Amino acid sequence: MTSLCLSLAAVLTSLCLALPAGAQQISMICSTQAEHCNLIATVFAKSTGIKVNFVHKGAGEAQAQLNAERANPKTDVWFGGTGDPHLQAAENGLTLEYKSPSLPLLHDWAQQQARASAYKTVGIYSGPLGISWNTELLAKRQWPAPKCWKDLLNPIYKGEIQSPNPNTSGTAYTQIATLVQLMGEDKAFEYLKALHKNISQYTRSGAAPVKNAARGETVIGIAFAHEAPVEAANGFPVVAVFPCEGTGAEIGSMSLIKGGRNLEAAKKFYEFALTPAAQELGVAAKQFQVPSNRSAKLDERMPDVKKAKMIHYDYVKYGSSAERKRLIERWEKDINAAAKS
Ligand code: F6P
Repeated sequence: MTSLCLSLAAVLTSLCLALPAGAQQISMICSTQAEHCNLIATVFAKSTGIKVNFVHKGAGEAQAQLNAERANPKTDVWFGGTGDPHLQAAENGLTLEYKSPSLPLLHDWAQQQARASAYKTVGIYSGPLGISWNTELLAKRQWPAPKCWKDLLNPIYKGEIQSPNPNTSGTAYTQIATLVQLMGEDKAFEYLKALHKNISQYTRSGAAPVKNAARGETVIGIAFAHEAPVEAANGFPVVAVFPCEGTGAEIGSMSLIKGGRNLEAAKKFYEFALTPAAQELGVAAKQFQVPSNRSAKLDERMPDVKKAKMIHYDYVKYGSSAERKRLIERWEKDINAAAKS
């Protein structure tokens, strides 16, 4: 163990020594898929000379890290992840007010996210929730395709649906908040309790149910509809539909951390991430959320929200710390702790 620590220390020291004196760096928490984080960090570093040290974390873990660092922030930028936790970080004084000159170039929903947080976060992409399945497995079992939320309660699917866990996943919280807005809170929890009987696993990350469906580990996955084309692009037999009753969407966001040590370099990254060229890196990394810059090119594999019945998602109400905490606690008590039979 001692020699491992010594050799790790040697590697880290040589990496530090390898950086030119005075080279700029930023520390980032990245909450999109690792491929996307890698690509944007690499391209930014190549074009500016500013190195991006990033850790990949889901919404829940990102929030926990930022809270733990509150007195002595080590992070400069939080890139990606659903918008609700970014709004909570803003409310809790963890993120910095910054009005980008690029704001007018963004879609209204992205600007609205900035206004809702008093400019402490901004929308970088959007995507609606969907129901996905492995087309080969579904056909083999001769099961009907689940096209509506209510279809997922069919006992035929028992043990063959995965959904993310809201304690760690922003996707899962978006799903609960969507159902509450669609059905009313008590009815939504009755629905989730009935659905619980068919769930085999609540996954840590939001994309996992679709990744697992793609690989045949489950038949059906509940996640954002843009996860299915990621797996299809990798050759897996997965599709997604928008639930027929209606669905909600995330506003994936980005925030500067208050008290971050490398503010000027962090602002350069922030501005870069709002450009069409940087947003088009999503597709290059096989990610299919809709970018927030109006001039960024769209890709035909991106879910077409015009085909979805979208609810009027109240981002301010469901982005508040108190509401999120209350709904997740209720989910933990009424759903996760409930027996399955
Ligand atoms: O990167 C894919 C993605 O679905 C994003 O669109 C979203 O912001 C994020 O993952 C949500 O991840 P999680 O549910 O694990 O917090």
